Amino acid sequence: MPLVLEPPEADKGDIESLLLGLKANKDWFEQLIITNSAVLLRGFDVKNPQDFNEIVETFGWEDIRYVGPAPRTHIYKRVWTANEGPLSEFIYYHHEMVLIKESPKKLMLFCEVPPPEGGETPIVPSFRVTERMVEEFPEAVEEMEAKGLKYTFTALSKNDTSSMRGRGWEDAFGTSDPEEAEKRAKALGMDMEWLPNGGVKTILGPRPLTRVFEGRKGRRMWFNTVVGMHGKELSSATMADGTELPEKVVKRCGQIIEEESIQFQWEKGDVLFLDNLALLHGRRPSKPPRRVLVATCK
Ligand SMILES: [Fe+2]
Repeated sequence: MPLVLEPPEADKGDIESLLLGLKANKDWFEQLIITNSAVLLRGFDVKNPQDFNEIVETFGWEDIRYVGPAPRTHIYKRVWTANEGPLSEFIYYHHEMVLIKESPKKLMLFCEVPPPEGGETPIVPSFRVTERMVEEFPEAVEEMEAKGLKYTFTALSKNDTSSMRGRGWEDAFGTSDPEEAEKRAKALGMDMEWLPNGGVKTILGPRPLTRVFEGRKGRRMWFNTVVGMHGKELSSATMADGTELPEKVVKRCGQIIEEESIQFQWEKGDVLFLDNLALLHGRRPSKPPRRVLVATCK
């Protein structure tokens, strides 16, 4: 993983040939993503956000707007920057928008500038995490599953690009009207509590621990963000009834995720398709420059 697709011949790597090939084989390609969880186009002449956008649009998959704490900038049509938080920080493993009612099915990433060192995008087969957690902590897993989970996350009053979770609430909800922000939060399945410092605490739950999605071999995906949000400065994770999660279970889960991770190293022009329902992904600390762009689809 990922499955790598390269031009069949050296002179067939141009963007027009690629677009023609993808267009003629849309369903086959989509099935490849589901079967393999990750598919990489490498060695094609994908140069810029415009080329990447054409690839994204070729499939006709509906766009899904990003909601979450990461600072991101719109680049071109369906294309956004990936998390603009400091490159020196590790972005913890997650399914994209895992806490939102409708998570994207597919995540498409394009490497415009590969990092000189570090900056890998590690990927983790989510079902493996569930399997190993059930093996080691059958009772805790069952309890968390039965009760469900509750998360809180605090959005700042204003954007702070020095933090990878530094999206202010106005940007996070796409409005500067607090009432409208509350309405949008409700629609996404969140409750809100305004804080005296102008920030807002969002409360989400109950949410499941694992999920099984159609067409993914009945695998139980570790579709939660317990390790990423438990006991952090701006976030928390508990069982839905308020019971604390056992510290050692969360800690061990973090180790298992790390052990199961596959290190993906970027090359210039790479286009990576991830099955967001089956894989967790993250970002390792990187030396600058590094520019990876993203599009999310239903
Ligand atoms: Fe992500």
